[in-house]
Amino acid sequence: MKALVTGANGFTGSYLTKHLLDKGYEVRVLVRKNSNQSALEGLPIEYAFADIADDNPLEDTVMDGVDVVYHIAALYRAENVPREYFWDVNVKGTRKVLEAAKKANVKRFVHCSTVGVQGEIKTPPAKEEDPYSPGDYYQESKMDGELLALDFFKKENLAGCVVRPVGIYGPGDLRFLKLFKYIYSGKFKMIGSGEVLYHLTYVEDLAAGIALAGEKEAAIGEIFTIGGNEFVTLNQLVQKIADIYNKPVSKLRIPVWPVWWAGYLCELICLPLNISPPIYRRRVDFFIKDRAFDISKARKLLDYEPKVPLDEGLRKTALWYKDSGLLESSSALKS
Ligand SMILES: NC(=O)c1ccc[n+]([C@@H]2O[C@H](COP(=O)([O-])OP(=O)(O)OC[C@H]3O[C@@H](n4cnc5c(N)ncnc54)[C@H](OP(=O)(O)O)[C@@H]3O)[C@@H](O)[C@H]2O)c1
Repeated sequence: MKALVTGANGFTGSYLTKHLLDKGYEVRVLVRKNSNQSALEGLPIEYAFADIADDNPLEDTVMDGVDVVYHIAALYRAENVPREYFWDVNVKGTRKVLEAAKKANVKRFVHCSTVGVQGEIKTPPAKEEDPYSPGDYYQESKMDGELLALDFFKKENLAGCVVRPVGIYGPGDLRFLKLFKYIYSGKFKMIGSGEVLYHLTYVEDLAAGIALAGEKEAAIGEIFTIGGNEFVTLNQLVQKIADIYNKPVSKLRIPVWPVWWAGYLCELICLPLNISPPIYRRRVDFFIKDRAFDISKARKLLDYEPKVPLDEGLRKTALWYKDSGLLESSSALKS
């Protein structure tokens, strides 16, 4: 089997590429020419180059001989880019990959979405069929990309499915660095009660789940939430990380709404001036929105079973941050 992985040089894409190679796949990666490709160094893979957000269709050689496409590329943690660019990558770029896959008659297509399309979870743990409720423009663009893919699968008779990862962590991640760093430095302060639910997926488990979504017949036409074995409260998560670093956690609680309004005002002033706001509402959402998901559908239809318990995953991640010297540098504590 030959797989094409978009976004293969990114965090998830690089783990998926290695997982597929381990399973015996031939892998072609689709990356931008000027991307940092260090995560792929030394791997026995073929390269194809393209920017999925530009106006040119993908060259036919990109899909040549490909059986299954894993479309992982997305614009996620970008600051100082116009909002429309999220749609250029996450929707227009998705269409471009879908059209090229259809033209080449690939057998299977896996579109990587996010549980963020469901935004705040009113009755946790959320199931796949619970309503869409994106909370910011990244999540809105991912929802539009997901709906486009589902519609394309039906109308164009492409055997595809959607996977929605729950917060991805593990060595190589930088998204959760700030949280670990604040806890390590002893400066972490909880905003709100800390009793909201938080759910994570260890990146190796996610790679295994995404691969299965491209293999199992029962996956076709479906949406799957891929998450870890357990969810905990934010208080518990912070305590677990603090225990790994042997650091105390402040009992102080900062009230939510003053911070939320400060974020709102900062965004109002900074964004038109193209400046990164020092506080923004999405950061506050982390402290106040329940994020817990039911992964039983992936278990049942994909035989997905997360193997890395939360404590082990947190320890591996915490030690990777520490050993990489990332906890000592000051930049990630600025906002
Ligand atoms: N991280 C999370 O917690 C999380 C949670 C749920 C869902 N997801 C979804 O999971 C997927 C992977 O996320 P990640 O955290 O692993 O992301 P990541 O490390 O930021 O990787 C994103 C990849 O997309 C590529 N990309 C972006 N714009 C592109 C363009 N115009 N043309 C071609 N490639 C482009 C990037 O390439 P460059 O290096 O060239 O920028 C990179 O390889 C995404 O679909 C994301 O929406 C992530």
